Amino acid sequence: MGLKRGGLLLALALALYLCSPLEAQLTVGFYRTTCPRAELIVREEVNKAFQSDNGIAADFVRMHFHDCFVRGCDGSILLDSKPGNTAEKDSPINNPSLEGFDVIDNAKTRLEAACKGVVSCADIIAFAARDSVRLSKGLFYDVPSGRRDGRVSLSAETFANLPPPTFNLAQLTQMFASKGLTQQEMVTLSGAHSIGKADCSSFSRRLYNFNSTVQTDPSLNPLYAAELKQKCPPGASGTTVPMDPPTPLALDISYYKGLLENRGLFTSDQALMSSPATANQVRANRNNNNLFSTSFTAAMIKMGRIGVLAGSAGEIRLNCRVVN
Ligand code: HEM
Ligand SMILES: *[C@@H]1O[C@H](CO)[C@@H](O)[C@H](O)[C@H]1NC(C)=O
Repeated sequence: MGLKRGGLLLALALALYLCSPLEAQLTVGFYRTTCPRAELIVREEVNKAFQSDNGIAADFVRMHFHDCFVRGCDGSILLDSKPGNTAEKDSPINNPSLEGFDVIDNAKTRLEAACKGVVSCADIIAFAARDSVRLSKGLFYDVPSGRRDGRVSLSAETFANLPPPTFNLAQLTQMFASKGLTQQEMVTLSGAHSIGKADCSSFSRRLYNFNSTVQTDPSLNPLYAAELKQKCPPGASGTTVPMDPPTPLALDISYYKGLLENRGLFTSDQALMSSPATANQVRANRNNNNLFSTSFTAAMIKMGRIGVLAGSAGEIRLNCRVVN
């Protein structure tokens, strides 16, 4: 009797768990029958954009991160500001550094022509990020899809949900944990900083006014600090430097090599060396390209599941810049 009831409760709990919107069902090949060319169309548009500007790959990897951390991966990063509402994309964290919105528009226009009202803007970002990883790493992974689009985008929400480059390890760990990501996954995903560029203003404090007693952050390699000072004079803004100078276009373990030489560009990068556990993981990645590749793609897929809308939640936007 008791056993029977226990079994029933268990089945009920399982059913609730499986239906829970927190565990929304994404599947690989979600558009296989409804829009068979969906992933191909996105890939073609990303490839085309990459051919004229190879910096675009970094933008899409970052765009997916910034979409997912604010209100979940719901395409909220793509909504335009309107009178009375400044959108996420116009937060100083994203504007002007985050680019590629026009490429998403091009893909969406073709997708609407091919299969009207079917493919979400949130999925387009996830596909574009995956394609960008392939272009930067030669590594392909299948992206679970079926995300739907949100209707809200607030610049104000970016500040509490996206980490600033000044964060220390405890702050970073806490913010990733609040999104359901482990400290290990954080170290792995930070490897995305092996591609792309950063504005001098994102790290100039480390060069010129670290604190009241030390001008230059002592945890920054002095040779690297000198190089950076040349490229970024005091107060420079609008000038960018590569985040992983040896291989700025390759999503590779060179980022971790850099951390072991105190060449992490941000406080948040070098912070990964500030505890034994994370420093060990940096070393493990540095020594094993396969380990990094496998864990990076797995962590990207997990990040892509944060707070997604699925089933009948949200909508499929017809234009990624405005709600229907
Ligand atoms: C761990 C905490 C993180 C912090 C504090 C952080 C912060 C930043 C900052 C400040 C920039 C430079 C923006 C600029 O000055 O133009 C940047 C660039 C970038 N971030 Fe992160 N980020 C973090 C994690 C991530 C993650 C998890 C990803 C993706 C998986 C990512 C992908 C990128 C990429 C690809 C760029 C280069 C963008 C470009 O070249 O346009 N970041 N990040
Ligand atoms: C400034 O930074 C150095 C190096 O991290 C540290 O030793 C020192 O205590 C800091 N000073 C202040 C006033 O925070």
